[in-house]
Amino acid sequence: MATPPDAHRISAPADAPDLRTTRLLLRARTLADLEAIVALDADPAVRRFIGGPLEPAAHREEVRRRIAEGRPEPHASWAIEWRDRPGLLGLCGLSPSEETGLTQIGWRLLTSAWGRGVATEAARAVLARALGPLGLPAVVALIHPGNRASIGVAEKIGMEQAGMVPYRGVPQLLYRAGRADVA
Ligand SMILES: CC(C)(COP(=O)(O)OP(=O)(O)OC[C@H]1O[C@@H](n2cnc3c(N)ncnc32)[C@H](O)[C@@H]1OP(=O)(O)O)[C@@H](O)C(=O)NCCC(=O)NCCS
Repeated sequence: MATPPDAHRISAPADAPDLRTTRLLLRARTLADLEAIVALDADPAVRRFIGGPLEPAAHREEVRRRIAEGRPEPHASWAIEWRDRPGLLGLCGLSPSEETGLTQIGWRLLTSAWGRGVATEAARAVLARALGPLGLPAVVALIHPGNRASIGVAEKIGMEQAGMVPYRGVPQLLYRAGRADVA
């Protein structure tokens, strides 16, 4: 029987390159990550400050489609895992920010990975890629004022608060980093 053309595709051709940090591998999402991403986004603790949990069935189809399409740079999304231990820890990525007209960085992790500096380490690598090789002039993060963990990540990677901006009707802290801000 003929093999369907996509059966062995690991990730879409348009995906971003792998990024490596001291402890982490950031790589393109693959269909093997699908159920972990659906579980991540169905968790009310993860989605507390980012619009609430997503209904698994509809979200599964959306994520499946996006993985299959690929997400070329600059607006790529990276799956995060330990370098020495495969398995999804979370996601970090770049996307267009309609509110600011700039590129937005975002991060979210499975709760089992919280509190070990994973988001800081991953976000630092993505921000460096954005402001370095990708040549973006600035990157922003929109963060709910109650989201202390996310504020901690933004500040640790060198982003600075630059006012407030509404996002889907909710006022958010605007954090920003330009090429000169990041070591
Ligand atoms: C935000 C999130 C990605 C942080 O991940 P993490 O890997 O636990 O963060 P880090 O360990 O890198 O912490 C960075 C800093 O934030 C602070 N921080 C982390 N968790 C915190 C918490 N619960 N309360 C207060 N500060 C916290 C700490 O100051 C930490 O610095 P430290 O190492 O000096 O203590 C994670 O909590 C998450 O997935 N949250 C749900 C999704 C989300 O809200 N995403 C952000 C949308 S804007």
